[in-house]
Amino acid sequence: MTRLHIPMLSRRAFVTGAAAGAALVGLPAAGQSGTALREITLRAAPGRARLVPEPHPETPSWCYNGAVPGPEIRMKQGERLRVIVENALDEETTVHWHGVRVPNAMDGVPHLTQSPIAPGDSFTYEFDADDAGTFWYHPHQRSFEQVDRGLQGALVVEEPNPPRVDRDIVWVLDDWRLTSAAEISDDFQNFHDMSHAGRLGNTVTINGRVPDVFPVRSGERMRLRIINAANARIFALDFEGHEPSIIALDGQPVASHSPEGGLVVLGPAMRADIILDCHGGPGTRATVVDRAYRGDEYRVVDLAYGEGRLRYAPPDWPVALAPNPLAEPDIAKARRHEVTFSGGMMGAMVEREMGLAATGGMMGGGMMGMMHDGSGIWLINGKAAEGHLLDPFLTLERGASHILAMTNATAFPHPMHLHGHSFRVIRRNGAPTVHREWQDTVLMAPRERVEIAFVADNPGDWMFHCHILEHQAAGMMGVVRVA
Ligand code: C2O
Ligand code: CU
Repeated sequence: MTRLHIPMLSRRAFVTGAAAGAALVGLPAAGQSGTALREITLRAAPGRARLVPEPHPETPSWCYNGAVPGPEIRMKQGERLRVIVENALDEETTVHWHGVRVPNAMDGVPHLTQSPIAPGDSFTYEFDADDAGTFWYHPHQRSFEQVDRGLQGALVVEEPNPPRVDRDIVWVLDDWRLTSAAEISDDFQNFHDMSHAGRLGNTVTINGRVPDVFPVRSGERMRLRIINAANARIFALDFEGHEPSIIALDGQPVASHSPEGGLVVLGPAMRADIILDCHGGPGTRATVVDRAYRGDEYRVVDLAYGEGRLRYAPPDWPVALAPNPLAEPDIAKARRHEVTFSGGMMGAMVEREMGLAATGGMMGGGMMGMMHDGSGIWLINGKAAEGHLLDPFLTLERGASHILAMTNATAFPHPMHLHGHSFRVIRRNGAPTVHREWQDTVLMAPRERVEIAFVADNPGDWMFHCHILEHQAAGMMGVVRVA
């Protein structure tokens, strides 16, 4: 099958972000508790999306409200959101509110927290936005295909007093595997993707379009909320000649800092809020390059400076965000739980190198555990998930502090995501982290050990899984019970 390659596309100028993402939720009304209630309907249905410019055709995709990505939902911290999800697909679906600390029944996990929404049915989600930040929503049913075909959208919860900027913009990054007819290649769940790095595509979009330029003004300060909605692609963005400051990760405030090596690194499902001071001269251009895969660097988009100038020196406005109401884990008293990831191609080799007993994953004790549909390739603490209905592999005492000491005994990176909580990333390979960042998804390098800490204050059965959606489907998923 011939596939599109990004550099071969003819590019046309268009304004990124002006298309889909602009719809807003309804007017606030009075909620039960006196907080403002916002209501929106999301209809999941097949549609078409203009991912790549003409002369390529539109791409048959799956849309929320006819768009890819779905509508950008914006609300204020403390408001309540009600979302009526209508399923006009030919298969069951759900919606998960990634990173939002919702009550368990609103978490959108089929079979575990709700029955999947049948074709023609609807389901109403309702929850409070306790945390401000950049979140996103996507199905949790056959995510590897439903998210990939376009079911995804941004959920922005604004602070009551956000830092002053000239523009507050969302970039939903996605990665598509398109055929030469600009159709989504339907080779889902193939063994190679599942056992290696996941489904990497050949076409990268910002807000559902292959961008050409992103217009900026000389002197302007932007808050860019970057969401990695790709199944498997890791991004490492270099804003050529600009110095982004990271002010939030996965929606949670972090002490403002320049990213290591100047690269904004986002594994699948992760978000970064950056402050970007556009200090280029009028009429100039700067290229945003993705350097995540060595030898495979490519241009994502050009920042194109218009004529005229907003200001000469960067503004001295403060950028710090107020903390969200997260319970602080007591590290000294925290209970420690070992969690080991294994399996995948070359996984047995890594386990041996790390001096771990073989877990019997693929190519370990043979292909024993592997199922014909590719599940059983990846394991958490020696077990591979099949579907969402699982016995918990960990039960955490509610209200107590816990440390998950995680070991990536595989040859691949994994963005590990815990539902219902945010956690502090406290140590990597034994060394304390500089920013002790709050995350809901943490990217682990091959062979890396990462410790995360949090208070288990949200009762229920929560998914814990790799957000490379092919790995999740191939067993890298488990349930953590908070009781
Ligand atoms: Cu963004 Cu369990 O998912
Ligand atoms: Cu993974």
